[in-house]
Amino acid sequence: MRIETFEMERMQSTWENLVDYDMSESGVRPLTLRELAAMGFDLESFMDEPLGYSQSNGTIELRERIAALYPGATADHVEVTNGTSEANYIIALTEVRAGDVVAMEVPNYMQMWGVARSVGAEVRTFRLRTEASWEPDWIEFERAVTEKTRLLYLSNPNNPTGSVLSDAAMRRIVDRCQQTGTWLLSDEVYLGAEVAAGTRTKSFWGMGDRVIVTSGLSKAYGIPGVRIGWIVAPPPLVADCWSQHDYITIGPNKMSDRIARVAVEAKNREHCYRRTGEILRHNLPIAREWAKGFGDRLAWTEPTAGAIALMKYASDTPSLAIAERVRLNQNTLIVPGTHVGIEGHLRIWLGGREEYLREGLRRIGTELKALFD
Ligand SMILES: Cc1ncc(COP(=O)(O)O)c(C=O)c1O
Repeated sequence: MRIETFEMERMQSTWENLVDYDMSESGVRPLTLRELAAMGFDLESFMDEPLGYSQSNGTIELRERIAALYPGATADHVEVTNGTSEANYIIALTEVRAGDVVAMEVPNYMQMWGVARSVGAEVRTFRLRTEASWEPDWIEFERAVTEKTRLLYLSNPNNPTGSVLSDAAMRRIVDRCQQTGTWLLSDEVYLGAEVAAGTRTKSFWGMGDRVIVTSGLSKAYGIPGVRIGWIVAPPPLVADCWSQHDYITIGPNKMSDRIARVAVEAKNREHCYRRTGEILRHNLPIAREWAKGFGDRLAWTEPTAGAIALMKYASDTPSLAIAERVRLNQNTLIVPGTHVGIEGHLRIWLGGREEYLREGLRRIGTELKALFD
């Protein structure tokens, strides 16, 4: 199977550990094992645990705890995966065939674009409209989601806009998928990373019988290094996913499964989400001040959720050329809009420590000034 390069991930994998400032991230700065131990992960007793295979679809304990986050779900509705990315991949392998149509909102995390095309599907996109507070373009949506559309992929909250769909938009999307017989795959890995205290993105789970949710510990929880994600879907679909999983990675690692059991417990989950929200509320004003310094040459809608700023710059220079200049001249990595399906924009990370954020922004700013002057 040939697959085209996943441009953003390839650029990150190549440079993120080599640059001085990695401003291409999208989660918040990660938790440590010590912090997880303080939340209840018993490291001492884990030391004596034989490092055999773990239950390949996730331990019953973990699946039950994940199921408890989704009303009406049981352990049989859940498949535990190596990150949300593996969850999305397995869904595509399970459901999408050559000749199918896959619909996808853009801008977005472009994994599904590459995976669906690699299995021979046609990908039809619909835009989240910059000029309409990231409301989907409903004409394009209806062209993309028809009786021929096997799967619709969206991320909500969305990477890279940080926007959240309104209740009415969610309803309209679910109704259309019911009508056309399309699986709706809602990637909710940023759910819980809301900026405003006390707010929470609504899950698509339970809104229709063709809804699949994927999520994981990487973003709102701030624990990407344990590589735990999950699929929540009707049990027959989950059973098919498990079969695919047998061929790919067999299952998640044992220590990660144990850590995840601690992280998804209600009080720990809320602790992680609160920590994420606090980091975002601390950092957003810094980014706001910085962006203001460029007047109307840099425009953005602040994220509702997620540690990402998507900034539109006033220049015809391609975003990749700007990102390359920032990397080469400033040893700093950012994501060019073209890697997330929206040219003319840059995606900048907001989830680091204050000093890191300020210095990263200063370096990016130096290149932007040179561009605008
Ligand atoms: C929407 C979305 N889904 C999935 C992923 C990958 O997540 P994970 O680290 O859980 O595999 C990302 C990473 O940026 C993402 O933005």
